[in-house]
Amino acid sequence: MRDLIDAAMKARLRAHAPYSNFLVGAAMRDEHGHIHGGCNIENASYPQGWCAEPSAISALVMAGSRRITEVAVMGNGSTLCTPCGGCRQKIREFASAEVKIHCCTETGELIQTFTLEELLPFSFGPENLA
Ligand code: THU
Repeated sequence: MRDLIDAAMKARLRAHAPYSNFLVGAAMRDEHGHIHGGCNIENASYPQGWCAEPSAISALVMAGSRRITEVAVMGNGSTLCTPCGGCRQKIREFASAEVKIHCCTETGELIQTFTLEELLPFSFGPENLA
């Protein structure tokens, strides 16, 4: 878990968040054990910005992976920063219900761990289209 949290902290420092000043870092472990980081990237046309989680998912997919097995995320300071609703659904595409999502402080201390099922109950996923 430490390696994942450290990767999220490192990714957070790359955030482009000049409008909110809320820097977010996320890291995702794939089915091969490899870690992929991502940060939020805001835009002068505000709605065009995106969250840290899709950045990490993009890195994971581009590396040739297709499963998320563990997630770490942090925002500013020590208030709980859980993935937003849209990000929960994006994680859902590649993760099963029991995947752990570690929410941490800016300095990498663990605040709380959730399962994806806890954050996104009764979810809609790829199986629904099978
Ligand atoms: N943000 C994320 O990167 N991930 C989340 O799950 C919550 C929100 C970003 C989006 C925006 O750049 C900033 O945090 C403030 O909302």
